Amino acid sequence: MQPIQLAIVVGSVREGRVGPTVAAWVASIAAARKTVEVVEVDLADFELPNTLIPSDDTDRFTTIVGACDAFVFVTPEYNHGVPGSLKTALDTVKYEWRAKPVGFVSYGGLGGGVRATEQLRQITAELHMVSVRDAVSLHRVRKRIDPEGGIDDAAALDALGRLLDQIEWWADAVAGAGERGDYPG
Ligand SMILES: Cc1cc2nc3c(=O)[nH]c(=O)nc-3n(C[C@H](O)[C@H](O)[C@H](O)COP(=O)(O)O)c2cc1C
Repeated sequence: MQPIQLAIVVGSVREGRVGPTVAAWVASIAAARKTVEVVEVDLADFELPNTLIPSDDTDRFTTIVGACDAFVFVTPEYNHGVPGSLKTALDTVKYEWRAKPVGFVSYGGLGGGVRATEQLRQITAELHMVSVRDAVSLHRVRKRIDPEGGIDDAAALDALGRLLDQIEWWADAVAGAGERGDYPG
């Protein structure tokens, strides 16, 4: 069986952001699985306009989304919601998100970004994605990251393992379902 192409998407683009550090931790754990090939997607590498006007960058982003089988969105919480950069990225693409599993790793202050995750469940359902139940939530994130970029937290590691197991299960199921016909979206 081919390894699944798993995009790990850095959802924040702010200067001084912590997102890439959290995403690198997620990627290091996902990449240890032989069944997964990690595709690192940093939204800061794309100019995705909130006017949603097509451009070379929106095409490049759409092509990457289309080539991936599954996604983990690494998201902070801004004012109890999803960062605008991630919402615009989700709005930029239509068909290429469909019938693909998605999991959420959130971080933030005391709330750990859980409100951003719950908003993402609504948004991704509208995009015909399948969100997995288990999610990672890192509260007071900057205090949790060690100098090597690791996060020594048994509960977070356990949740991330379950999230990845569930994503792999759905990616396999979707790959098989394609033989029975196109997704009716
Ligand atoms: C505009 C803004 C709003 C924020 N709102 C929240 C919030 O509602 N809840 C929370 O837990 N943390 C909040 N924070 C703290 C962020 O979650 C924290 O700074 C995190 O590191 C931001 O992610 P980033 O560094 O990848 O941009 C906010 C930060 C910013 C910049």
